[in-house]
Amino acid sequence: MENKLNNEDEKCDEIKDSASNAKIDESEKALDTEMKKMTVTETRTENSESGSGEDGDEKFVHPVRILTEAEIAKLQKDATCVSDFKQNKLEKEAQKNWDLFYKRNTTKFFKDRHWTKREFDELCPVEAETGRRTVLEVGCGVGNFIWPLLQEDQSMFFYACDFSPRAVQFVKDNPNYDPSRCSAFQCDITNDDLSGNVPQDSVDVVSMIFVLSAIHPDKMEAALSNIIKVMRPGGCLLFRDYGLYDYAMLRFAPGHKLSENFYVRQDGTRAYYFTTEKVLELAERCGFDRSQSQCEYIQRETVNKKEDLCVPRIFVQGKFLKPKSS
Ligand SMILES: C[S@@+](CC[C@H](N)C(=O)[O-])C[C@H]1O[C@@H](n2cnc3c(N)ncnc32)[C@H](O)[C@@H]1O
Repeated sequence: MENKLNNEDEKCDEIKDSASNAKIDESEKALDTEMKKMTVTETRTENSESGSGEDGDEKFVHPVRILTEAEIAKLQKDATCVSDFKQNKLEKEAQKNWDLFYKRNTTKFFKDRHWTKREFDELCPVEAETGRRTVLEVGCGVGNFIWPLLQEDQSMFFYACDFSPRAVQFVKDNPNYDPSRCSAFQCDITNDDLSGNVPQDSVDVVSMIFVLSAIHPDKMEAALSNIIKVMRPGGCLLFRDYGLYDYAMLRFAPGHKLSENFYVRQDGTRAYYFTTEKVLELAERCGFDRSQSQCEYIQRETVNKKEDLCVPRIFVQGKFLKPKSS
């Protein structure tokens, strides 16, 4: 049950993002059946220092989420981390576990991400521009971010990479895959130099959607440093990932904690739950211009009437600019 819901994260994500827009487009119509089961509200919250703090425990104060006493008790009780032996095994088998994920789920798990232009202006067509725009989708999975944009905007060229060879093969086998407009390749973003596949200083926009959370915290800097090298000066990294005290984080049973805010799912894939500050600091350390960057919490509330469930989701969403001159 836990695994099912935790792995439903991104599945629900599409439903919720579609629901946030009053204008119902075609993709939302297709989601109608699921929407009947779920009522969704969305709140976007700027970073703020305010929080509940009702129990006097600073640690559990969050800018957008007031934890219940039961939730605080659960987090406090879940203090024991998975053994070093098991942690090392998970790190060694990270690629295998993602590959098995795609073996089990094939292309059916994530839905095409039709919400991206609404959230990120950088993905909208630029009227005056005639040249090609280059986008690098990091941790592309089976391509759900790419396909809607590829069809809508002829000026975009996509590089797409993923850890899982199977996922990359699904991208290449997709009927929308056009080698004159896409280049998909397998890579470990924490270790394999991206410039072997993507020219340095060339990419206009990089997208990273629920990917950094899958990477061990000690390797997150290596991933972002790898990415910034292939971005053109002034280029932008678009980012969305899980936020601290997201519903999925609070659902982990004891025995799944790897370190502070880092957990392992039943299938061996891992998820880190970010504060906005953590993301901003990481990006700055890797060379992104903090004064030109932003990161905020995105809140969702998913109500499943049938099961009498109200599910508060928290994501972090940001844009990080590579300085124009170094
Ligand atoms: C939660 S999925 C998100 C997939 C896709 N971005 C989407 O939004 O549909 C996380 C993806 O990150 C990939 N990933 C995990 N670690 C990676 C690494 N070190 N290098 C490249 N990709 C990685 C996984 O294979 C997986 O496809």
